[in-house]
Amino acid sequence: MPIDLESRGPVAILTLNRPEALNALSPELLDELEERLAAVERTPRAQVVVLTGAGDRAFSAGADIGHMQSASALEARAYARRGHEITDRIEDFPKPVIAAVNGYALGGGCELALACDIRIAAESARFGQPEVNLGIVPGWGGTQRLARATSLGFAKEMILTGRPVDAAEALRVGLVNHVHPREELLDRAVEMAEAIASKPAWTIASAKALCNLALDGDLKGHLQREIDAFALAFTTPEQREGMTAFFEKRPPRFSEL
Ligand code: COA
Repeated sequence: MPIDLESRGPVAILTLNRPEALNALSPELLDELEERLAAVERTPRAQVVVLTGAGDRAFSAGADIGHMQSASALEARAYARRGHEITDRIEDFPKPVIAAVNGYALGGGCELALACDIRIAAESARFGQPEVNLGIVPGWGGTQRLARATSLGFAKEMILTGRPVDAAEALRVGLVNHVHPREELLDRAVEMAEAIASKPAWTIASAKALCNLALDGDLKGHLQREIDAFALAFTTPEQREGMTAFFEKRPPRFSEL
């Protein structure tokens, strides 16, 4: 199963479970994540969600580069839309979602964490938006939500350089609320989830929805522009070179194109 669902009292733990590909977010995994979220929504006992990744290496290394490598712009657009459907679903989910980031959270993995209400991380976590190395732009909300979570300048640095940041730096810039040793991460996330679940469910749902308005601006409009730019990248040779280089395990050669 690409997504595991475990119940601990009022807490539903969803685990991205594709460790052999560092929990990369294939279309199948996204479909199952959506199904699992729907199941949690229908279960009154499940009041708070913790989202994490299987294994010690990754929360998620992002969108599935294998799926994107030879995508047309139209196919890329559909994939961006799919990622946006899931991240919007999490952001608007009527129950709080806490990301417990246990390793790499790169590209779509970082964007998935950004859609969650609260992020906590293991000391080993690494956040990044490395899309520029693949000749594309972030396509699942990163261009808008990273600046909202940190600052515009810091988001631009991460997105324009592709540089990953470690857990300590993520804590400093407000990308995560707490950092814990790896072995304690899930328990700490469940503790926080239980504290939230002890409050009245409707006040929590209402407070979450209100908090989401705080930074809204025209988020949905800007997210639409991001989908367009992501699709456009798939008409370029840089996207083909970036993704080919990834699988050939070598640096991309953009300047020679
Ligand atoms: N999509 C598809 N497969 C991925 C993947 C992704 N986003 N990220 C990692 N994988 C696969 C690798 O292809 C590899 O598969 P293989 O064992 O069949 O060769 C496996 O996961 C392990 O990754 P590998 O690159 O060998 O591990 P590493 O320790 O050398 O490097 C990372 C780890 C995270 C730095 C590296 O995998 C990486 O840069 N991944 C891509 C991150 C990215 O650009 N994400 C944004 C996508 S838009």
